[in-house]
Amino acid sequence: MKAVKWTPDKIRGLKGKAKVVCVTAYDFTTARYADAAGMHLILVGDSLATTVLGYANTIPVTVSQMLHHTAAVSRGAGTAMVVADMPFMSYQVSTEQALANAARFIKKAGADAVKLEGGALRADTIRSLVKNGIPVLGHIGLTPQTVLQTGGYKVQGKTDASIEALLADARAVEQAGAFALVVECVPRAVGKLISETVSIPTIGIGAGPDCDGQILVSHDLLGLSGSTVPRFVKQYADLGSRITTALDQYRREVESGTFPSDEHCYG
Ligand code: KIV
Repeated sequence: MKAVKWTPDKIRGLKGKAKVVCVTAYDFTTARYADAAGMHLILVGDSLATTVLGYANTIPVTVSQMLHHTAAVSRGAGTAMVVADMPFMSYQVSTEQALANAARFIKKAGADAVKLEGGALRADTIRSLVKNGIPVLGHIGLTPQTVLQTGGYKVQGKTDASIEALLADARAVEQAGAFALVVECVPRAVGKLISETVSIPTIGIGAGPDCDGQILVSHDLLGLSGSTVPRFVKQYADLGSRITTALDQYRREVESGTFPSDEHCYG
């Protein structure tokens, strides 16, 4: 029997029953591996900017770049839901512009949903997208697109006032119709509190085990991000050193003439 694609309703239905397992991907091949590993949701994160394109933060990545990579991921994904991250200034200027850009991710790049950063401030935009048939994944807590204002990536929700603000943001995103909510970089207890407050699944990244699901950046969990990964990352493989070893051996064999050998030659 052909497996059926994950939809917003099915992801919502996991709340309280099973964890939502998500990862980022930026290309066809990684999307195929992620899908085969049983991911519910693949996010084409705007972390594309730092992981793949080599920028210092996520601010410079453009809609065209995100569209290009989202289309590749959509071609590689099977049952996993593909969510495209809307880049900085593609949804903040006006609701109309947000709708037009989100539609490009759905129609041109084959995404199943979009993600945008921000809580109460973005509720009207989320409402409008959802009303027009575009599923939305929210994102609160540490929001990397505000790095120019915050001056760095800091744990959020450390004071009573900021916990209250996070809870208000979570409720606003839920009421606006988002099917799930990414919660980034908050203390474990705050991740738990937000998860208990909203009826949609929370997907934590640096928000502790009590969230309804987890997401990690694929480059971080596969060991492709160098030595500086945040505390919340667990590295499940060290592909970086395996790539270095393989490329080094290839170079040495070409230099010494042992590659290609007879078995790699046509008769
Ligand atoms: O861009 C990204 O990879 C993200 C995740 C960290 C949630 O937004």
